[in-house]
Amino acid sequence: MIYFDHNATTPMDDRVVEVMAPFLAKYYGNPSSLYRWGRIARDAIEQARAQVASLVNATPNQVIFTSGGTEANNLALQGWMRKFPGGKLAVSAIEHSSVLETAQGLQQQGWQTSFIPVQASGVISADALDELLDDSDIQLVSCMAANNETGVVQPVAELAQIARQHNTLFHSDAVQAAGKLPLDFPGMGVQMMTLSAHKIYGPKGVGALIVDKNLELMPLLYGGGQERRLRGGTENVAGIIGFGKAAELVLQERESQAKHLLSLRQQLEAGLMTIPGVEIFAQQIPRLPNTIQFGVNGVDGEMLVMSLDRENIAVSSGSACASGGSEPSHVLVAMGVEENLARSAVRISLGKDNTANEVERFLLSLQSILQSFGVI
Ligand SMILES: Cc1ncc(COP(=O)(O)O)c(C=O)c1O
Repeated sequence: MIYFDHNATTPMDDRVVEVMAPFLAKYYGNPSSLYRWGRIARDAIEQARAQVASLVNATPNQVIFTSGGTEANNLALQGWMRKFPGGKLAVSAIEHSSVLETAQGLQQQGWQTSFIPVQASGVISADALDELLDDSDIQLVSCMAANNETGVVQPVAELAQIARQHNTLFHSDAVQAAGKLPLDFPGMGVQMMTLSAHKIYGPKGVGALIVDKNLELMPLLYGGGQERRLRGGTENVAGIIGFGKAAELVLQERESQAKHLLSLRQQLEAGLMTIPGVEIFAQQIPRLPNTIQFGVNGVDGEMLVMSLDRENIAVSSGSACASGGSEPSHVLVAMGVEENLARSAVRISLGKDNTANEVERFLLSLQSILQSFGVI
């Protein structure tokens, strides 16, 4: 199988599995217990907290472990906005569903939500944010660091500065940027940031919200008092330990991985551009080194994904969470891409273990499938 869907999830690194294994079986103590077995689990969690903090240049006490990126995004938006009943928030139009639908859910319950538009390039409009914040009394802005579909890198520091000038809090979903771009929580000027372990070769079902120390959020889950009373529930000990190791590894290896990914991406793009009718979205814009989203005029993206699957190649049509639905990608629609072309979108997201040979095989398979469709 050629796996080209690393923005959906990544395989766990063997070194991550290795550190998790003892905490799945041998060290089963509850980290809140006072005796030695509890303390072993507690110490391991605190080490993981420091490892995750280092990945984004934060301090360990700024890390709140959650069940993943989705929960961290919910905690950021709901945890802050529930302090201001009837308040206002703004999220970009290209956010992941865990931000968009949380904002929509709050809207249904009486909060006011604005959607910040993106330019045709896929970049969130700083001018539009500035205008929006001039006009209204918004308590929270949420803009992602890099888009999961197009891979377009967003000007988060600039957007956060605009928010700061208007005394508005800023949250960034950095789930896709982590491990692929350098991240500096204090340097970016954001007050909350979301991370997820399974996008950086860690386990599924664990993530974190990085929270400015001075910020008081309302928890989504009460009880137990874990995670500074912000996330009740006995910790996912093995998952958190795996997350910590994955963060440590990706911090050390990111730069060399990025070089490898970029060279594969260039090879892939060069090949795609020789195929008539192929359009690479946001091609000239700074993107994650591993991500290419393209469309082929007259082809249905999901049909192409299924045909590639028969050739043992895993790619995705639009975002993983949206696949299965027949709606065109909301990200491409927000960029003004024509609906039929948006429906043809396929996303390739490369990973550290992919090879030039796999890229070559993919290009050959794609060409023969498009020939069988009669489009080239
Ligand atoms: C940008 C972005 N945010 C959040 C998430 C959700 O993270 P998780 O799967 O850990 O809930 C994803 C997953 O696809 C994502 O791509």
